[in-house]
Amino acid sequence: MATGVDAEAAGTSGAVTPGAVTPGAVTPGAATSATVKLLVLSGPNLHRLGKRQPEVYGHRTLEQIHERIQQEAGSLGALVECRQSNHEGELVDWVGSAQERGFAGIVINPGAYTHTSYALYDALLAAGVPCVEVHLSNPEAREPFRRRSRTAPACVGKVAGFGEVSYLLGVRGLLNRLASTP
Ligand code: DQA
Repeated sequence: MATGVDAEAAGTSGAVTPGAVTPGAVTPGAATSATVKLLVLSGPNLHRLGKRQPEVYGHRTLEQIHERIQQEAGSLGALVECRQSNHEGELVDWVGSAQERGFAGIVINPGAYTHTSYALYDALLAAGVPCVEVHLSNPEAREPFRRRSRTAPACVGKVAGFGEVSYLLGVRGLLNRLASTP
């Protein structure tokens, strides 16, 4: 039985295919109705991590990063659902339905949509739950077009430049914020 939020989710082994869900890997039975659930989203081309510009993004696959996020969240008593999509509208849909699906917050690496997407900005602004933007690289230290984030202004915080650890810090920061928000 999947212990994550979505029992219909895809398996946890192999490469992450676009749209795939990695179910939360918290100890079976540990989750209660009070368990905080976070949605972790990754945007276009991030399913190719491990092969894509490893000198910039590292050698770990998104699948491996998802597993590490699940471990981190589990150690903090939370559940995560990790999803990736190459499609702007699909990311918008996931952000827009997160609150009604019981997620307390969203951690998102919008990929290149970071720099272009007003639709994602609007979706994050209207999500009804706090959102944190994360990046593996530090876009501000790269090409000029990456220096502006359209989506970060709709988020409560941003972590960039620490590889996969950016996701872990994003999860940790968001959980800390949720715990300290009345
Ligand atoms: C990225 C940075 C973006 O500029 C780029 O388009 C990506 C990955 C990162 O995680 O460093 O796809 O979001």
